[in-house]
Amino acid sequence: MKKICVLTSGGDSSGMNEYIKMLAKLSKKNGDQLFGSMYGYDGLIKQNFVPLDYDYLQNIESMGGSIIKSSRSKDFMTSEGFSLAVKNIKSNFDCVVVVGGNGSYKGAIDLMNAGINVIAIPGTIDNDLYYTDKTLGFDTACQNALDATIKIRQSLQSFDRGCIVEVMGRHCPDIAEHTAILSNADMLITEKLDFEKILTDVKATISSGVSSPLIIVQENLIDVNALAKYLEQTLQKEFRASVLGYIQRGGEPTANDKLFAIQLAVASQKKIAESLFGYALGKKDEVMIATRLCDLTFEPSANNTYMRQLFEKISG
Ligand code: F6P
Repeated sequence: MKKICVLTSGGDSSGMNEYIKMLAKLSKKNGDQLFGSMYGYDGLIKQNFVPLDYDYLQNIESMGGSIIKSSRSKDFMTSEGFSLAVKNIKSNFDCVVVVGGNGSYKGAIDLMNAGINVIAIPGTIDNDLYYTDKTLGFDTACQNALDATIKIRQSLQSFDRGCIVEVMGRHCPDIAEHTAILSNADMLITEKLDFEKILTDVKATISSGVSSPLIIVQENLIDVNALAKYLEQTLQKEFRASVLGYIQRGGEPTANDKLFAIQLAVASQKKIAESLFGYALGKKDEVMIATRLCDLTFEPSANNTYMRQLFEKISG
């Protein structure tokens, strides 16, 4: 019988609850005990642990967010906080499962280097963990962004207004690229651009007969409200900007994310049963994979331009 601790850290993503429920089910089946560390790494420091009994977790899979809460723990980044977390894990658990994005993964690697048995699960909407094709919650975030964009466009088209939609992704263009392709947007902005350059492209779009240009913008690049004002004043045409924000993280996971969560739980339970730790789990070409945490790189591959090219082929 193993005592397992699971935590969710950083931005929550849809599918985390399905993963927790399924891991609880499989732990029970295997005679292990599963606990949740509340508020991610903070719970390890404060010994804020809750038993996760499968019998009480029915129906959580349809909820967004994380039932064991999340945080971006500042205390865990201090040497006192980190040492306390390690001590508390060693006295309470056989292993820790970290569900999160790249910041959380760095914490998982630190724990592994401190002698803790760790499994890492890619839970983030950003899709910025490059060893895996998809992260858990990315598919739901794209669906949410697409649904919202289509609703916005339906309204703005009635006025022949230009639409600027900013989506999340931190420094990763994937949600923006998927949303732009799936909504058949006119422009996709995934790098810092001067307003003058954007104006030239918008003018060309309007000249080609588009009365309500749709521009998808990756977050953290430009001020979309200032851009709307600039375009409106320069072109004497109404523009509106919408920042989609947290709507992208919430809601019921898509079928794809639910399936991925279940596959990740099965793969985690197998690793735990075999006492094989220090792995990040994921999926490549539809096959479940386990990559050693010590082999991970956090840089995107420079030649990954497929989605950008796909957008360019269908736009204009
Ligand atoms: O990492 C997930 C994410 O939603 C990013 O896309 C976004 O930039 C960030 O989290 C927002 O962070 P916070 O929840 O701290 O506002």
